[in-house]
Amino acid sequence: MLNKKSVDDINVKGKRVLVRCDFNVPLVDGKITDENRLVAALPTIKKLINDGGKVILCSHLGKPKGEPKPELSLAPVATRLADLLGQPVTFAADATVVGDNAKAAVAAMNDGDVVLLENTRYRAEETKNVDEFSKELASLADIFVNDAFGTAHRAHCSNVGVTKYVDTAVVGYLMQKEIDFLGNAVNNPVRPFVAILGGSKVSSKISVINNLLDKVDTLIIGGGMAYTFEKALGQTVGDSLLEEDYIEYAKEMMDKAKAKGVNLLIPVDTVVADQFSNDANIKVAEKGIDDGWMGLDIGPKTRELFANSLKDAKTVVWNGPMGCFEMSNFEAGTVAVAKALADLDATTIIGGGDSASAVNNLGFGDKMTHISTGGGASLEFLEGKELPGVAAANDK
Ligand code: 3PG
Repeated sequence: MLNKKSVDDINVKGKRVLVRCDFNVPLVDGKITDENRLVAALPTIKKLINDGGKVILCSHLGKPKGEPKPELSLAPVATRLADLLGQPVTFAADATVVGDNAKAAVAAMNDGDVVLLENTRYRAEETKNVDEFSKELASLADIFVNDAFGTAHRAHCSNVGVTKYVDTAVVGYLMQKEIDFLGNAVNNPVRPFVAILGGSKVSSKISVINNLLDKVDTLIIGGGMAYTFEKALGQTVGDSLLEEDYIEYAKEMMDKAKAKGVNLLIPVDTVVADQFSNDANIKVAEKGIDDGWMGLDIGPKTRELFANSLKDAKTVVWNGPMGCFEMSNFEAGTVAVAKALADLDATTIIGGGDSASAVNNLGFGDKMTHISTGGGASLEFLEGKELPGVAAANDK
């Protein structure tokens, strides 16, 4: 359990409540193409509205690098949030985020009203956690609520600096839920505990592999990172993704798994292609991959192996797809793992980013216990790091 004060522990009636959300959603031509992060923020926002708070929302969007960029304005988020909440959301269009428009919008609020500030990264100070901007944000509010789990691995003004300048800082329901699910899985799992790691690079998951080997009963490795492990076992990998510098590390991790009695599984067959394209010639390779071919998905025997090893699992954490699931000819491995998880009587937790998109796009979203809204944040959490955004939400 996250041992911090939450929105349940405060009285917000008539108070100005600044809520840091993660509304960093994908936008195409001004249209939000994945609104999961907005939906996930609703319970906290609704609670504060119902309790009579003046709800001032803030978030970053993309990387405008300290300059107002109209294509990264949060205006479309305000419009969509108003639909989802069924009440107006005043958008404080303000290039300086906390300028005259924002101040006037906040001053005009009644209890239960909602205002959304402009993209906090329009200000260069935001990502440098400069006190001046933190103070400006804090000056708008009586209470600060951090509900931006997706941003918790960053130490910025709007999630960390601001807590220094408010009297009360608590976490929201989304933050609480994320930390509870991820924290229980990693620190207090019902066993057998299986972790599935995929995605393209060993280098981006070094600390996760190392940390999880101390915790899990089984570690499954798929995706592009598996080829470095296969190479470490002396197999040929053809033109597949390979991180030469991490072959030794892969060997060390296999030794560590053996020493700890962890069942470490890597693919036994691979769907290979003669080019990186959905139109490529494809075949299944079993004992090594020939030059001129690259692995783009786990093969049928591996799908079966992985699914079987999940059968008795009681806790599963999955981060990273098994193949290039964005191309239909290479989605079968990721689908098979998603399906195996969907059929389990277990707590199934999906890391954010690519894994969350894969599970949602392939139609298995509602079959999982918890899909994290944080990509980088969930990864750093699984590495065992303390997230600055969580640490800063002191009980004040
Ligand atoms: C995310 O999408 O992972 C978070 O919103 C953090 O975004 P950032 O990587 O731009 O800091």
